[in-house]
Amino acid sequence: MSIKDAAQAVMKKAVQAAPDAWMPGSELDPLIRQKHGLIGTPVSRLDGPQKVSGAAQFAAEFPMDNMAYAALKYSTIAKGRIKELDTATAEAAPGVDLVMTYRNALRMKPAPPFMSSAKAAGGDDLPIMQDEEIHWNGQPIALVLAETQEQADYATSLIRVTYETEPAVTVFEDAKANAEVGIFQGQPLHVETGDAEASLKSAPHNIDVVYTTPRHSHNPIELHAVTVGWEGDNLRVHDASQGVAHTAWSLAQVFDLAEEQIHVTSPYVGGGFGSKTLWQHHILAAAASKLAGRPVRLMLSREGVYRIVGGRTRTEQRVAIGAQADGGFDALIQTGTVAMGRHNNMPEPFILPAMAAYNSGSFLLRVEAARMDMLSNTFMRAPGEAVGTFALECGVDELAENLGMDPIELRSRNEPEKDPTSGAPFSSRHIVEAYRTGAKRFGWAERRAKPGTHRDGEWLIGMGCATATYPYYRMPGGAARITLTKDGRATVEIAAHEMGMGTSTTHTMVTADRLGLGMECVTVKYGDSHFPGVVLAGGSQQTASIGASVSAAHRELVTELLKVAGKDSPLPGLDADEVIGLDGHLCQSDKPGRRESYVSLMARSGRDEITVEANAPPPLEATHWSMHSHGAMFCEVRVNAVTGETRVSRFLGSFDCGRILNPKTAASQFRGGIIMGLGLALMEETQFDERSGRVMNPSLADYHVPVHLDVPKIDIIWTDIPDPHAPMGAHGIGEIGITGVGAAVANAVYNATGKRVRDLPITLDKTM
Ligand code: MOS
Repeated sequence: MSIKDAAQAVMKKAVQAAPDAWMPGSELDPLIRQKHGLIGTPVSRLDGPQKVSGAAQFAAEFPMDNMAYAALKYSTIAKGRIKELDTATAEAAPGVDLVMTYRNALRMKPAPPFMSSAKAAGGDDLPIMQDEEIHWNGQPIALVLAETQEQADYATSLIRVTYETEPAVTVFEDAKANAEVGIFQGQPLHVETGDAEASLKSAPHNIDVVYTTPRHSHNPIELHAVTVGWEGDNLRVHDASQGVAHTAWSLAQVFDLAEEQIHVTSPYVGGGFGSKTLWQHHILAAAASKLAGRPVRLMLSREGVYRIVGGRTRTEQRVAIGAQADGGFDALIQTGTVAMGRHNNMPEPFILPAMAAYNSGSFLLRVEAARMDMLSNTFMRAPGEAVGTFALECGVDELAENLGMDPIELRSRNEPEKDPTSGAPFSSRHIVEAYRTGAKRFGWAERRAKPGTHRDGEWLIGMGCATATYPYYRMPGGAARITLTKDGRATVEIAAHEMGMGTSTTHTMVTADRLGLGMECVTVKYGDSHFPGVVLAGGSQQTASIGASVSAAHRELVTELLKVAGKDSPLPGLDADEVIGLDGHLCQSDKPGRRESYVSLMARSGRDEITVEANAPPPLEATHWSMHSHGAMFCEVRVNAVTGETRVSRFLGSFDCGRILNPKTAASQFRGGIIMGLGLALMEETQFDERSGRVMNPSLADYHVPVHLDVPKIDIIWTDIPDPHAPMGAHGIGEIGITGVGAAVANAVYNATGKRVRDLPITLDKTM
C-alpha cells in the first residue's frame, strides 16, 4: 500500500468515526479532507524580502525620541550580598544619565511564575534589583543608562563592588545528595508500573548504562533586546518575543498596572528556541526608563544572554532495558538527576519520550532535581526530548547489539498499539512507516552490523539511527479576529509569533484555503499583545493553536455572512457547517455550484467590513488521545582514526507529523532542528566553573555551534498522513527536529569505531 493509499484509508476511518473529532460537537476540520488549494504546496516566506533587504525592524531597531542606551553589570559571586557599591565614577563618566542599583530602583513586584503553578518554570520569581542579595553568579547588580551604547558599556566597568559571600552549592555531586523528584507542568516526573528492577534482573538480555549531557546555553542569532518607553502610565515595549500576551500580562503584574496599559509588539524575532520569554532585562529597562523619564533600549551582549537568560540544564541518566531473546521489553528504566536553580522549577523532563515510545512489561521512569545556586533553567528546543532521546535511543541501540538484532527491527518489535504508560489510544502514529521509508532512502541495508569494519583511508565510516518524538500540545487561551472588507479581502489578527519558522506564511495559506481566497487577499497580523488570544510560540503548539482559533473565528464569520445572505441569496437556510469557501465565494459544500461571492455578500450587508472574534475550543483532543509527532533519524559519520574528529557525512530525517501544511518552511524547520541536534551531539557545552558557579565560555568563540562546514546535506521526507483529531490534520514540527539526533550520531560513531560515547558532546578526545 502506498503512503497516499494509507493516508486515504486513515482518513476514511477517521471520517466514519467523526463524532470524536477534535472540536467537540462539530465535524472534522474540512481542511483536512481538502484535495486542492494551497495547503501542501511549497510557499516561500512572505517576510523573506523584508528580511534579506534589511527592511524588517527587530526589537533593537525601533527608534524612540530622546532614547538612552542601557548596559548591565553582573555579579561575580554565586551567593551572598553586596557589601560596598561605588557608582560615583560611573555616574560621572561621559554621557551617563543614570546608574540604577537596588538603592534607587523602583519598587517592583517579582515577575509571576511562568508556565508552572508553583515556581517559575522558565526563569524565576526572585525580586529584581530590590535588595543586596545575590542568588547566582551573573545576576544583574547595576544598570547604566547613557547617550550611546559604548558609553553605557564603558561606565559599567567603572562600578566598584565588593561582596560578602555565603557558602553556595555549585558542585553537582554535592547537590545530588538532596535531589528530589522533579515536578513538570504540575505532575511529578515519576512513572512506575510493575517491578522494573526485578524484571530487569530476570530478563535474559539486558543493558544498564549511564549517559550524561551537559548544560546548554541559548544562542539565537538575534540577541535578547527591548526598546521601551512610557507614555504616562502606559508602557510601550518593542520586544523580541515568543509570548507577547504573556509578557504584557507579566509586566502589568510587576508594575501594578492593568494589562491593557502595557503594549508589547514583536513583528520579527531572530530565533527563540524557548529563550525569548520574559527575563530581567525587560523589567530593568522599563524601570530605568521610568526613573530617567526617557525611552530606553537594552540589548543584551552575547555574554549577557549567557548570564541572565536560562538554558538547558545538565542531566545524568541511567537507562536499563531488560528483554526477551525475541526483543520484547520486560523492563524499561530511565532514571536520573538534573541540576536546577534554587528559585526555578524546570527539571529537564528527560523521561517524556520513554513514556510513549515502547511497549514494556514494566516501567520505572524518574527525574530528580538537584538544587544549585545558579542561573535558573528554562525551556530549550524540545526540553526533555532533546536529551532524553539521546539516552533512551542509545540504550535501545546497545540492547540491539546485545541481542544481535537490527536496531530498527528491535524498535518495531516493541511498537505499542496504545500509549504504554497512559493507556490512551494514539491519535495518529506511523513511526514504523517512517522507519521503513527512511531506511530505504538512506540505504540502511548497506550498514555493516559489525562496528569498526568500514574504512576509507584514515576515516572510519558508520551508520546510526534513532527515534525522534515530541508531544502534540495545544494550550488553552487561543483566540482570533477576522475582518472581511467589501472588496473581498480578509485580515486575521492574533497574538501569535513569527520567529523565523514560517508561521505567518503558513497561516496566510491556511486562512486563504479556509476562506477560498488567494493569498494576496489575506493578511495575517501577529506579534501584538493587543490582538486577541494568548498564543505562545512554544511547545510546538502555535500552529495548532492558531489553526483552531482561526477556524473558530471563521465559523463566526460564515455564520454572520449567512445571516446577511438572507433568503434572496443562493445560500438560503444553510448553516456554517454546510458551506465552504472557494474561489472568492461561499459555496454549499456538497453542491459548490450554489454560491455567492464575498464581494456580493458584503454589498448585500451594506457594510464596509465585518469583524468577528472567537475563542478556540478547549484543547480536549489531547486529553482523549495520546498525540505526538514522530520521526526516524538516520546518520552517517566519518570518524578520523588518527585525530578522533567526527564528521557527519549524511543525514536523513523521516517524519510522521500529520499533514504538512507548507513543505518549504516545514523542511526548513526540520533541517534547523537537526542542525541544532548536530550541535548537541558534537559541540555544545556550557562550561560551568564548579568553584565559583560562573559560566566560563559565554561567547560564540568559546561555545561551539555548527557552522556551514559542519552541516552535510540533510535529506527530509515525511509520511504526510493527516491526524484526524488535530486542527488541519497537522502536528507541531518546531522541536522534533532536534530529538533523536544526538543518539543517531552517537550510534553512528559506535558503528564506525566500536566506541560507545555516553557523554555529550562527542568531542575528539572521547572517540580515541
Ligand atoms: Mo520551545 S523550548 O517550547 O520554544
